[in-house]
Amino acid sequence: MDDRPIGIFDSGVGGLTSINAFSEVLPSESILYFGDTARAPYGSKSPETVRSFSREIGQFLINAGAKILVAACNTSSATALDYLRECFPGMIVQGIIEPCAEQIAEECTAEDRIGIIATPVTVNSRAYNTEIAKHNPDLRVFSEACPDFVPMIESGAFESKTMETAIQHHIGRMVDECGINVLVLGCTHYPIIRDKIESLFPDLRIIDPSVALAKKTRQLLQEEGMLASDWPGWRRFYASDLSPRFLNVIERLGIKGDYSLERHRL
Ligand code: DGL
Repeated sequence: MDDRPIGIFDSGVGGLTSINAFSEVLPSESILYFGDTARAPYGSKSPETVRSFSREIGQFLINAGAKILVAACNTSSATALDYLRECFPGMIVQGIIEPCAEQIAEECTAEDRIGIIATPVTVNSRAYNTEIAKHNPDLRVFSEACPDFVPMIESGAFESKTMETAIQHHIGRMVDECGINVLVLGCTHYPIIRDKIESLFPDLRIIDPSVALAKKTRQLLQEEGMLASDWPGWRRFYASDLSPRFLNVIERLGIKGDYSLERHRL
């Protein structure tokens, strides 16, 4: 048994979309969450910068007592995992892309046309293509970088006309030009606008990697004998810039149960 918290991080509010999945799959685990809201978006920065920011967050979470590091950030998972493992030997570092690729390979067939929407850094890394091909090289995968989504989501403009136009533009292009029938939310910010996407594209089968990430984390903790004792875990959320937007997202996601919230500058 290991009652230390799980350390989960993202560039901002996006990783909060995985909190409900973690609470359901791992109800006894305590969670430390860090959202780097002061420096988001990561997805339009250089991979070197994403690696360096990810390392700072990893160090903070480890100092705060985390027993495992979970990148609930596709951009960081696409670029920084190996680096984090080098920086923190002995620490388990889990990313979100690998479990999502496993889920895609289980649920999709060669008949499907799979669209991945993600940040420019994630799309340029081709991490999804590589991971999916390891499981099933016959799957047809198309990617679209959506650099405008995260700044709008971080600014709280979920319901704006501009958000709707951007969704129409990016996803509409994949539907029209690539004929996708499956849409992977390859950035943890995107589940925040999932209802909008579903209302505009009701025929798409949507995959949100949060549950796969939480299950993968449970599997790793089980294998290592590091699951927590059987009592309800606590949650502490840190953000490098704490604004009402952070609370808006918590409310919009319907994050259940108690949590504490603190600003922490790295
Ligand atoms: N939510 C993150 C992801 O999953 C990063 C978004 C960003 O900061 O650009 O990729």
